[in-house]
Amino acid sequence: MFVTFEGVEGAGKSTQIALAEDWLRSQGRDTLVTRQPGGCALGVELRRILLDARNTHLDPMAELFMYLADRAQHVAQVIRPALAAGKAVLCDRYHDSTVAYQGYGRGLDVARLTDLGRMATGGLAPDVTVVLDLPVALGLGRARGRNAAAGACQSEGRFEALETDFHERVRQGFLAMAESEPGRFAVVDASGSPDEVFALVRSAIAARLA
Ligand code: TYD
Repeated sequence: MFVTFEGVEGAGKSTQIALAEDWLRSQGRDTLVTRQPGGCALGVELRRILLDARNTHLDPMAELFMYLADRAQHVAQVIRPALAAGKAVLCDRYHDSTVAYQGYGRGLDVARLTDLGRMATGGLAPDVTVVLDLPVALGLGRARGRNAAAGACQSEGRFEALETDFHERVRQGFLAMAESEPGRFAVVDASGSPDEVFALVRSAIAARLA
């Protein structure tokens, strides 16, 4: 079982993934939590480059191919072996983030990104994709508060620093993808408390796997 979590900045993915992990483990499911970018050794290096707010010069194409390189290596090295071993894999972001951020956000061609995603992943698609949806202003407020608290403004803030319009396009991108593929996507209102949101996440996953 391969489940991915998507959403705009500050939607609460990490909290929901941790709750989903506890839930699956309590049911005796061997579970792997991982993320993109940064779920393998190559990805850790790429993540450092991709999220460094000082890298203002990154060309959108160079950025795109680093996300795809991270994904190709991570699928081959981590996700496919875990699925083959029967694990439930929970991944914080996957190719839908590339379509939302590089496509809807940066303006790269969405159909071509979909093809590139198939190449990078060898066609591995999630069984379920949870989109944690909330108003952009609310998410950015949460994310900036978290970064400031962690002193991470310089090292993990390249996207948080972009204007609200960019994040609004990203949000609308996720919603458009979810509408075109309702069998895989579950859009969850992420504005409530962690427990309230998780009740929705759990039933969305359970319904799609039933
Ligand atoms: P993430 O670690 O999920 O950050 P956050 O917890 O702040 O949401 O994602 C890192 C950033 O990389 C995030 O701003 C979204 C961006 N991103 C892309 O632009 N394209 C991609 O393909 C992926 C996976 C992430």
